[in-house]
Amino acid sequence: MSSVAETNTTDIVYSARGLTKHYGPIKACTNVNVDIRRGQLIAIVGDNGAGKSTLVKMMTGAIQPDEGKLLLRGEELRFNDPMEARSKRVEVVYQELALAPNLDAVSNIFLGRELRRPVLGTPLVQRLDETKMRQLAEQEIKRLNVNIPQLVGMPVGRMSGGQQQSVAIARAVYWTSDVLFMDEPTAALGIQESRAVLDLVKKIVDDGVAVVMISHILPHVMELADHVIVMRHGEKVADLERAHISMDELVRLIVGA
Ligand SMILES: Nc1ncnc2c1ncn2[C@@H]1O[C@H](COP(=O)(O)OP(=O)(O)OP(=O)(O)O)[C@@H](O)[C@H]1O
Ligand SMILES: [Mg+2]
Repeated sequence: MSSVAETNTTDIVYSARGLTKHYGPIKACTNVNVDIRRGQLIAIVGDNGAGKSTLVKMMTGAIQPDEGKLLLRGEELRFNDPMEARSKRVEVVYQELALAPNLDAVSNIFLGRELRRPVLGTPLVQRLDETKMRQLAEQEIKRLNVNIPQLVGMPVGRMSGGQQQSVAIARAVYWTSDVLFMDEPTAALGIQESRAVLDLVKKIVDDGVAVVMISHILPHVMELADHVIVMRHGEKVADLERAHISMDELVRLIVGA
């Protein structure tokens, strides 16, 4: 197993040490270390059941590790739930969309975090600031160069899978500028839709966000990732710079041949 110990440690934004999660006899994840750097895309690959989602869930507050610790910007902490992780600028986007299908894009971007403004000249009486939310959403969508047909008045449930995924990513990026986890963000998408989402991912990595993406699609991994983590039977079996590995070697590491 190769290590990342020799690389620069100053730009590490988030680390995991010794993360372990067992379900009775099932060793979903055992003693996994991860270092995440600003402006870097880490791909997590591995066969079905290898422990990828479990690892990401432990790092985003969805489940609690049995053992191990998390260090965000050098500070040891725990997330009791995903909201707590969000409040520390650690976000996650799943394959199955966590959008409200009946609401439009702007409402989804601000869902649960709506902006309000005082009315009647007192902060005691507040109303939703729809103009402000629309302006900010427009700015963000424009900055990310995302193709969303209509930001206001069109339920996202009527948009294509790729457009919905782009809204989900735009929401995550709007609220976080530090670490974004994605669990198979293109698994449910067609070729063109995947392309648009991957372009968006590239853009946010270039903007300095650290992105950790689980993917089964190895050509995407080879194209986009700076770093690759390979999981097998709950253990991290490789952690390498993508430039140092070929697709064939990656496949061998995944299947354990
Ligand atoms: N809540 C749970 N209870 C029991 N076993 C679980 C639970 N969650 C995950 N597992 C088991 O832990 C192992 C790792 O699961 P995990 O979902 O992390 O795999 P994965 O690498 O994400 O797989 P996939 O590529 O299929 O999404 C699997 O054997 C799975 O069945
Ligand atoms: Mg999974």
